[in-house]
Amino acid sequence: MVLVIAHRGFSGKYPENTMLAFRKAIEIGAGGIELDVHATSDGHIVVMHDGDVRRTTNGSGLISKMTLGEFQKLDAGQGEHPPLLEDVIVLCKEHGTFLNIEIKALGIQERVARLVMKHDYVGNVLISSFMHPQLPKFKTYEPNFKIAALIPDVAAKMIMKIISKLIPVDAINPHYKSISNDFMAAARARKYSIYAWTVDDVGEFKKLASMGVAGVITNRPDLMIGAEIG
Ligand code: G3P
Ligand code: MG
Repeated sequence: MVLVIAHRGFSGKYPENTMLAFRKAIEIGAGGIELDVHATSDGHIVVMHDGDVRRTTNGSGLISKMTLGEFQKLDAGQGEHPPLLEDVIVLCKEHGTFLNIEIKALGIQERVARLVMKHDYVGNVLISSFMHPQLPKFKTYEPNFKIAALIPDVAAKMIMKIISKLIPVDAINPHYKSISNDFMAAARARKYSIYAWTVDDVGEFKKLASMGVAGVITNRPDLMIGAEIG
């Protein structure tokens, strides 16, 4: 079974990276959630995609220059305030939901790792990042952390070969358009799990499922759940 991972929660219908979007994803049966994390000026790990709050809230400015109090006052739409990572870990633990944490800021690994470890949830978490050198540290805090190299929509197979020589990752998270049968064969040979993003089309989902990806990251978990069969 391909794991359906709700990208920024059920962001196709609810404000991205909010508790509402995460709860709704779980409610409709998504097996996993993907979110993005940053740190506030007073060191709290919070959930938002951009480093600047302008696109997704009523405020403006960098998260790294705001206190947690200032950050949590922001309006993220539909009565939501942007959440702390810890709140999402607790929610996921309550429901046994897989959690893909994407690292968007530098130097926050230890704080992220400690939060996951505090709630004894390492086994159900995948840490990913486009900033690959940020990843290996997680294994020094707890060897069971699974880490994934995110790769953009370019020459995925070549990049995977380079990464395999540099960083001992467990998974590769490529843009879905860069996945071919050839790419999947190369990934299998290296024993990587493949999580494709961002797949919002059922036809694409079925194709990727038949190619053997471990999971897809989607804004529309409602369309993907159950689509593999039939
Ligand atoms: O983790 C997959 C995807 O979220 C990576 O891109 O920009 O949506 O964080 P982005
Ligand atoms: Mg992301």
